[in-house]
Amino acid sequence: MNPTSHASFSAQDASPSATFDFDQIIDRRRPGCVKWASYPSDVIPMWVADMDFRSPEPVRRALAERVAEGVFGYEFPHDALTQAICAWLERRYCWRVQPNEIVFLPGLVSGLNLVCRAFGRVGDSAVVLTPVYFPFFSAPANHGMTLAKVELRYRVEGQRVHVELDDEAFARAIGPRTSLFIHCHPHNPVGHAWTRDELRRLAEICLANDVLICSDEIWSDLTLDGAPHVPMASLAPEVAQRCITLMAPSKTFNLPGLGFGFAVIQNEKLRQRFVASNNGVLPHPNALGLAAAQAAYTQCDDWLAALQRYLSANRDVMLDYLAENMPEVRATVPQATYLGWLDCREAGIAGNPYKFFLDRARVALSDGATFGPGGEGFLRFNFGCPRAQMLEALDRMRAALRQS
Ligand SMILES: Cc1ncc(COP(=O)(O)O)c(C=O)c1O
Repeated sequence: MNPTSHASFSAQDASPSATFDFDQIIDRRRPGCVKWASYPSDVIPMWVADMDFRSPEPVRRALAERVAEGVFGYEFPHDALTQAICAWLERRYCWRVQPNEIVFLPGLVSGLNLVCRAFGRVGDSAVVLTPVYFPFFSAPANHGMTLAKVELRYRVEGQRVHVELDDEAFARAIGPRTSLFIHCHPHNPVGHAWTRDELRRLAEICLANDVLICSDEIWSDLTLDGAPHVPMASLAPEVAQRCITLMAPSKTFNLPGLGFGFAVIQNEKLRQRFVASNNGVLPHPNALGLAAAQAAYTQCDDWLAALQRYLSANRDVMLDYLAENMPEVRATVPQATYLGWLDCREAGIAGNPYKFFLDRARVALSDGATFGPGGEGFLRFNFGCPRAQMLEALDRMRAALRQS
């Protein structure tokens, strides 16, 4: 694609999701907005993982109704919400979960920390596949656990970077004090949706070594190209018995500021221990988060289908753009998330690529190095935004590279 042909591509491709208008630019530049207020106003922020789209209309309506009441007292998750979540898990992943197997949380980073608090003893080790979302390092460390970091393997094929699991390295990293595997599925930042076969290989090693699995599936609804998501715990009953799954509507419906998520824990003893180890450490989920989740899980399937189409098209446009205009920057093909993973290791950029694009292109990406081993030389590019914004960021990056 040539850089001047954006308009026609965007209009043509936007038609399936036209009723939801993901092309609309919303001005988020106000104090306190993490994504837009952390850099000077001439910088396009393509970093932190929230989207620049409005949440679906039923969610906004539910929130407006809740706000109109004007009383913000304590609120508990009522049965209708629990049932809506169970119905969602069954409808979307063919995963049968009982209402009492759900534990509500005020967020998933809190959930990761609570998992470590409940199941990790000081001196135990947690195994993680890197590069990975950085709270996977801090949550075990906060609880006196050590980390075994297993790097994902990259296989480069022309302009494409494929991500592969190194089972042997994973098995080798597990020692007598390894009590926990914290998995990211789909995987932030590389965008890999783990296959049933890969999940099975990971689970087998964990079960054989009595390692508990914490599967953070916050990205589960944002698979691209209509691919289904396979929850780790849905693989087999024996896996479910050793698995704590963390989920939320926050990435899916763009609600991360509302403080809501949940854990699915099917093993009763583990669930009791998880709940007991909270004991007031974490607050209740936010009342507005509860209202939003209820609407999201019952009235927004069509919005989500349109979003998935829009994100899949954004990903394709981004990859085509890179291939045609910045071939020295390689990339993975994300199968889920709205995160591009750009390989700048051989792009001829002097110094840190994050700094280069911030200084020379005025585009803020996420520095791959912050995601741990295997992240150096990479950049995470958030394409959960109107296509015109994404293309402007890419145009600026291209110009900066051409001038260097
Ligand atoms: C894998 C993963 N877990 C958790 C979170 C954040 O969850 P929360 O905002 O609910 O703490 C993110 C945000 O990007 C994420 O990518």
